[in-house]
Amino acid sequence: MTTLALVPNVALAPRTTLGVGGPAQFFAEVTTKAALLEALLLVKERELELTVLGGGSNVVVSDRGVPGLVLRVALAGLKFEPVADGFVEVTASAGENWDRFVAECVARGLAGVECLSGIPGDCGGTPIQNVGAYGQEVADSIVRVDTIDRHTGVSQTVDRETCDFRYRYSRFKAEWRDVRIVTAVTFKLRAGGAPSLRYGELTQRFGDRAPSLAETRAAVLELRRAKSMVLDADDENTRSAGSFFTNPIVSEAQAEEVEQRARARGLAAQLKMPRFPSSEGIKLAAGWLIENAGFAKGASFGRVGLSTRHALALVNRGGASALDVLNAALTIKRGVLEAFGVKLVPEPEWLGFGDDELAELRAR
Ligand code: EPU
Repeated sequence: MTTLALVPNVALAPRTTLGVGGPAQFFAEVTTKAALLEALLLVKERELELTVLGGGSNVVVSDRGVPGLVLRVALAGLKFEPVADGFVEVTASAGENWDRFVAECVARGLAGVECLSGIPGDCGGTPIQNVGAYGQEVADSIVRVDTIDRHTGVSQTVDRETCDFRYRYSRFKAEWRDVRIVTAVTFKLRAGGAPSLRYGELTQRFGDRAPSLAETRAAVLELRRAKSMVLDADDENTRSAGSFFTNPIVSEAQAEEVEQRARARGLAAQLKMPRFPSSEGIKLAAGWLIENAGFAKGASFGRVGLSTRHALALVNRGGASALDVLNAALTIKRGVLEAFGVKLVPEPEWLGFGDDELAELRAR
């Protein structure tokens, strides 16, 4: 017998940080695995499309809304389990707020996620795009991810290696996209461990001094706040999806070409182009490319703008539509392509859009 209520026509914009787009045809929130399984059965019975919504901090909802059932997986619970060699495995249910989880780990002296302070969204969303900031990413500490197959209802735990984590990527973004629902994530954190200090902006703050986990968290929150990258109702830049494009990873030769183009535009002489070597290639700074293609911080595209504090965040300045966001993103993509020959790729998930609408924006 089914007890789960599917509520028709529920506005989604207020459930996302960007705040655009239409309603869910049906909406339901589940707080237990049993209810989640029930929802999966209902979806099958009624032949509905299924879209899973997490914290809503990295999504753009179409103006038409989202057909079928939008399911919020609000599973709660944190479990701390000491394991060998001074480590603790922390299992966070998918619906746990990410920053509350980080705060709790820091308070307990567990090292490994402190640089990921202040990131909006839920724990369950973090493995999907391998959330990262300030020199840390969740792939550094995730040991396994509990999932449920949305078609069969079968639970499966996948280990870190199987997830194929890379920069802003995992198999959850590829072949597992419409198959696996994340129900919990387990992190292996070091008890009494030192914070990881790898990012220039962070290390500069402390000089030779070794800060505590709590000081590191405070410094990261301050840095993010200065870039309008924490949720704050009083901040004019707050209605965004964080970084709107991923930082492009290019070969040495392509990086050279971009630098040449920057020089030809008279830029590199006064402004050094940021380049970050990584295991996958040379990471360029999308924010820098956007600004130097001529889109200044605070630039306007109708009701959408660039954040006044960071050129990589698109902001809903009030009353923006999803189409406004899409058009602004396309204008920026075309501008950066023309200026530097680099195709920026958007970071957020697009819900309720057709592949054809997104083809140009997603082109690599
Ligand atoms: N830059 C500019 N103009 C700007 C913004 C940045 O020239 O308007 C330059 C900076 O001067 C710097 C470089 O770009 O040299 C990198 O900037 P920043 O340190 O702010 O980081 P980012 O590469 O823009 C990435 C992540 C953020 C994460 C920060 C901090 C991506 C797509 N974004 O941003 O993640 O918080 O590093 O580690 O990888 C997110 O994914 O939503 C997100 C906010």
